Amino acid sequence: MSKVENKKLFIQTLGCQMNDTDSEHIIAELHEHKNYDVTTVMEEADLIIINTCSVREKPVQKLFSEIGQFNVKKKPGAKIGVCGCTASHLGKDIMKRAPYVDFVVGARNISKIKDVVDVKGAVEIDIDHDESTYEFAKLKTSKYRTAVNISIGCDKQCTYCIVPATRGDEISIPPEMLVAQIQKDVDNGAVEVMLLGQNVNSYGRRFSDGRAKSTFTKLLQEISKIDGLRRIRFTSPHPLHMGDEFLEEFVKNPKISKCIHMPLQSGSTKILKSMKRGYSKEWFLNRAKKLKDAIPELRITTDIIVAFPGESDEDYQDTIDVVKELKFDQIFNFKYSPRPNTAALDLKDIEVDDKIASKRLTDLIDLHKEHQSELLARNVGKTIEVFFEDLKSNGEVAGLSDNSLLVFVQGSDELLGKFVNVKIISASRTALKGEIAK
Ligand code: SAH
Ligand code: SF4
Ligand code: F3S
Repeated sequence: MSKVENKKLFIQTLGCQMNDTDSEHIIAELHEHKNYDVTTVMEEADLIIINTCSVREKPVQKLFSEIGQFNVKKKPGAKIGVCGCTASHLGKDIMKRAPYVDFVVGARNISKIKDVVDVKGAVEIDIDHDESTYEFAKLKTSKYRTAVNISIGCDKQCTYCIVPATRGDEISIPPEMLVAQIQKDVDNGAVEVMLLGQNVNSYGRRFSDGRAKSTFTKLLQEISKIDGLRRIRFTSPHPLHMGDEFLEEFVKNPKISKCIHMPLQSGSTKILKSMKRGYSKEWFLNRAKKLKDAIPELRITTDIIVAFPGESDEDYQDTIDVVKELKFDQIFNFKYSPRPNTAALDLKDIEVDDKIASKRLTDLIDLHKEHQSELLARNVGKTIEVFFEDLKSNGEVAGLSDNSLLVFVQGSDELLGKFVNVKIISASRTALKGEIAK
C-alpha cells in the first residue's frame, strides 16, 4: 500500500505574465518527469525555485535577498534553483554571489529544467537555444482561462530595456500549435485565452522553421474560429505596429476583449525617439482615438516610464497631456531604472535627479487615481455582461466584463462559469458592485 511520496517544489515568480506561464511550464515538467508536487510552504520543499525578472534593479535585488532567506530557512539538503531573466543575464555570477545556488536556467531555456534539476552547478543560459518547437507539459491553473506564449524574445531595441538581452531574438510559435493548444484548453473548460508576447502584433515575422511570414491579425482570425472560446485577450501590442488592418480586426471581432494595453512609455516625441520606440505622441493619440471613436466601451491600459534620461519638465508635461487627453483605465508607472546591456546607459550624464523623478511619479499616480474613480463611476446604472469565476469567503462572487471591469455581486457558486447580465449599483476606484439584472 505504501506509495512513494512525491518530492515537494516551492516556486516563487517575479516579473511579467510570460514568467507566470514559464513557471507553469516548470511546475508541469517537474511534476511529469521528476515527481514533484507544488507546496506553498518553502520550509518543507525539497526544491526551491525562484523565477526572476531583470526589468528594473529592484527585482534583481529582491532575488538576492530572497535566496539568502531561503538558504537560511530551507530544509537540510533542499536544492535552490534560479530561473528566468536575471538567470539569463547574470548566469554563473549568481553562483559566485550565492554559492549555495544549485543551478541556473535562463528565460529562454526553461525546456531544459528537467535535465538540470539534478545537476549541481548546471548553468543553462544559451540564448540561441530555440524552444519554439518544444511542447511543454501544461499546468492548469484556472478553470476558465488559459494563457499561451505566441512568441518568445523581442526584436526591438528600446534603449532602456534589458528584455532583448534576456529573452533573445523574437521567434513566433507556429499558429497550428497555438490553435491546437487553445482548442485542448477549451475542450477542458476554458472560455478565455490570453495571448502573450513582448510584442504580440509583430507576430509572424519569423518562425524557427523558416515558413512564410504571417501576421497577428491572421492569428487572431484563426483563433477566433475555435468553437466555445468566448474571449481573446493579448498583451503587449506595440503602438508602432497598430496599423489600420489590426485596428479594424480589433473593432469588428466580437471575441476580442475591448480592453487594450497600449504601452505609451512617454508622451514626448523627443523622449520616444531617444527610447527608440519608433512612434510619436501624435501617432499614439491617433491610434488610441481611432479605437475610442469606434468602441464606446473601450478601456485602455498603459505603461509609463518617468524620468528617462533627458526628460525635461516640458517632456513630462507632454506625458501628462496624453494622460489627461486619453484618461487611461490603468497605468503601470515606473521610474526609469538603468539596466546593464542597454543603450540608455550612454545617457548617464543627462539622468534626471532622483527627487524630481520621485515627484513626477507621485504626481502621475495621483492624477491617474482621479481618472480611475471618474471612469468607474460612469458605469453606475448600466447593465453589463459579466463572466463569474471566483467565489469569495464573504459571499460575494467576482467576475470580469468583456472590457475587464472587475464586478462583485452577492451570490453563490451557481454563478461560477456563467455569463450573466449585472446592473451596476456602485463603484469604488478599482471595482464595481452590482446585482443580477432581472
Ligand atoms: N514588451 C512590453 C514591455 C516589457 S517590460 C512593451 O514593449 O510594452 C514591461 C514594462 O517595464 C515596459 O513597458 C516599461 O514601461 C517598463 N520598463 C522596461 N525597462 C525599464 C527600465 N529600465 N526602467 C523602468 N521601467 C522599465
Ligand atoms: Fe523591451 Fe521594447 Fe521589447 Fe518591450 S518592445 S520588451 S520595451 S525592447
Ligand atoms: Fe521581467 Fe523578463 Fe518579464 S525581465 S518583465 S520577467 S520578460
